[in-house]
Amino acid sequence: MNIRDFLSDNVKQAMTKAGIPDNFEPHLAQPKKAGFGDYQANGAMAAAKAMKTNPREIAGNIVANLELEGIAENVEIAGPGFINIHLNPQWLAEQLANAQGNDKFCVEQTDQSQTIVIDYSAPNLAKEMHVGHLRSTIIGDAIARTMEFLGHKVVRQNHVGDWGTQFGMLIAELEHQKNDNAEMALSDLEVFYQQAKKHFDEDEDFANTAREYVVKLQSGDERVLGLWEQFREISFSHGEEIYKKLNVSLTRDNVMGESAYNDDLANVVQDLMDKGFAVEDQGAIVVFLDEFADKDGKPSPVIIRKREGAYLYATTDLACLRYRVGKLNADRLMYFIDARQSLHMQQVYTIGKKAGYIDDTVSFEHHGFGTMNGEDGTPFKTRTGGTVKLAQLLDEAVTRAREIIEEKNPELSDEEKAEISRKVGIGAVKYADLSKTRTTDYIFSWKSMLAFEGNTAPYLQYAYTRIQSIFRKADITPENFTGNIALTEPQEKALALKLLQLSETLDQVAKDAFPHVLCTYLFELTSQFMSFYEACPILKDGIEPDQRNSRLMLCKSVAQALDLGLGLLGIEVMEKM
Ligand code: ARG
Repeated sequence: MNIRDFLSDNVKQAMTKAGIPDNFEPHLAQPKKAGFGDYQANGAMAAAKAMKTNPREIAGNIVANLELEGIAENVEIAGPGFINIHLNPQWLAEQLANAQGNDKFCVEQTDQSQTIVIDYSAPNLAKEMHVGHLRSTIIGDAIARTMEFLGHKVVRQNHVGDWGTQFGMLIAELEHQKNDNAEMALSDLEVFYQQAKKHFDEDEDFANTAREYVVKLQSGDERVLGLWEQFREISFSHGEEIYKKLNVSLTRDNVMGESAYNDDLANVVQDLMDKGFAVEDQGAIVVFLDEFADKDGKPSPVIIRKREGAYLYATTDLACLRYRVGKLNADRLMYFIDARQSLHMQQVYTIGKKAGYIDDTVSFEHHGFGTMNGEDGTPFKTRTGGTVKLAQLLDEAVTRAREIIEEKNPELSDEEKAEISRKVGIGAVKYADLSKTRTTDYIFSWKSMLAFEGNTAPYLQYAYTRIQSIFRKADITPENFTGNIALTEPQEKALALKLLQLSETLDQVAKDAFPHVLCTYLFELTSQFMSFYEACPILKDGIEPDQRNSRLMLCKSVAQALDLGLGLLGIEVMEKM
């Protein structure tokens, strides 16, 4: 259950009964400071102002009409007219008990399921995946998992860059080297790309072949297309390996690359010309947008076909937009692309809107993100200034995690160490990224992401293992364990409330596409678990069986929430570490 929404509906009804016009909202929030209730309704002040009455009196009328018997143990009016709601521990315990055995835990399913098309990862297949692709890949994946979990239909779309003039050069090089072995030649895509480029720059005959191949590729020459497909296949399988390492849910079925829209590009251009939005300008076909005029009022040009006939990134995205709205029937389109492509996305949307490819019933959302920087504050690079390959970065993460695990828990078996290091290393890299506000740049630091204290993956994973060890000590399998929950101590009540707030947290994430909101929640949950654990003994002698079982149920619930929440971020938990 989403408690915030539940209370909000309740206060809203009370407002109506108190004669407050419908345009006023309850404004329900979790108070920032302790001592102001579990939730605070702040809507009385605005209503009183408009109705020209006393806000405390309005608040009093609202409270008189609230129907929260058994749900709230106390409702008080504070300050100028805040309504502080203190929830009843017994009611919280019931909600938490209801969540047991439910595979969605306490999370309320959406009653307005949408088709959500999520565009993420989208590496260019000409080169190997590098750290620049990390953010789109893991942020998009966390949102896709969350949406699906809430009951939406998610269509993952991996808009890989698999088309364009550089492929002429690459397949010419592939053909040139192929006497050996294509897999081998492409085992290091980065090196291969450089070889092709060098060849292209130094050998005029080769350069001509490459250019010829671009034309052949575009006109559907079978042999050249075959080479291209081979290149694409090998390159994508590199990407697939990374997805597996990263525990990202993208598969081959989600690939809908630039090339997929190839046959539709001429139609889009024609359509835009027929509708009068696109015009010829010095041989090129251009859409002029007044919406993005410069300061002299000159409209901004978006080229959709070059003079020599080539189509552009924007043309592909327009065809893609039409497909996603028209064929995939998207209600919501979410693009996880670097913030630097913001103008491009706005242009695509503006043109698409004019041309009728999308209307107001579909939500078009570009969720941009900042850059991942090194400790010196400039974009993350290798020591020699090159781009960092994602595969290497992930291997290093696992190696570093292994060193820590060896030191912390040398008794573990080799197999256990390997599994734990993988989960901790990869989890740390992902969490460090996901826990930062998406829109800002952040500094990549091995030391802070692998710390066992603070807002890190290892801290949360460690809390999970701690709970598992409590159950091992009690000789109980948590999955089969049930018991009544009674919340007597303040730490118990606070922990139960926090657990139940997972539902509203996920709704918030679904609304704004900010995964850090979930990370902050998990971190706070863990911190509250630690306070509870300190204040409330569980297995100690002298603890009544009922109390022990109730506390074990709280532990079990925390483990469930951590497993679920981290799982939505694509981060794994383990029994020991
Ligand atoms: N391949 C592009 C790049 O690496 C990202 C594509 C994003 N998706 C899109 N529909 N434009 O910059």
